[in-house]
Amino acid sequence: MVNITVIDHPLTRHYLTTLRDVDTEPDAFRAAARTLTYTLLMEATKSLKPSEFEVQTPLEKTTGWRMNDVVAVAVLRAGLGLLEAVEDLLPHVKIGFAGVQRNEETAEPEAYYIKLPDVTESLVIVLEPMLATGGSLAWAVEQIKAAGATDICALCVVAAPDGVKRMQVEHPDVRIVAASLDRELNESYYIAPGLGDMGDRLFGTL
Ligand code: URA
Repeated sequence: MVNITVIDHPLTRHYLTTLRDVDTEPDAFRAAARTLTYTLLMEATKSLKPSEFEVQTPLEKTTGWRMNDVVAVAVLRAGLGLLEAVEDLLPHVKIGFAGVQRNEETAEPEAYYIKLPDVTESLVIVLEPMLATGGSLAWAVEQIKAAGATDICALCVVAAPDGVKRMQVEHPDVRIVAASLDRELNESYYIAPGLGDMGDRLFGTL
């Protein structure tokens, strides 16, 4: 089973190109990350079955729908760049945080913080924009599963083949929605062609 859906919508491609462009400044980068996230969220949430109820329009009664509960977990720090779009689009979303940083030599994740809402009854969308080795995402998913989640989707901007493979082996039940599956991880564990360090580009810490 292929566990990744790459969104090839023209708007997704447009905003991804803005993110890739080395000349995009942090404020424009943040705006593009936010807008691109809307296009990914439409796919990530499309299998939810909203509950049906009767709504009164000014003219008559008709069928209405209410969205199910969704939890988003932002993997710090780059996941914060996708969070505003999540807050805008998903009604009554609850939000958790997973603090993990990669060891610059081994690229393995070093966890430093986890705070989750109740995840047992909800779709959990993990915001991990750069799926590189997959170490951070695999760790975050382990914590979320340990807290009782059974329906998990990862939202990525760019994914590398290594990260997708790792998720396929360790968490084959987790769907990945991404704007691009890039060529490779380079020797410094950056995704190529990629967009550089997402956290640095979002927050201007280059
Ligand atoms: N994290 C990033 O921010 N960029 C990469 O290319 C890989 C991991």
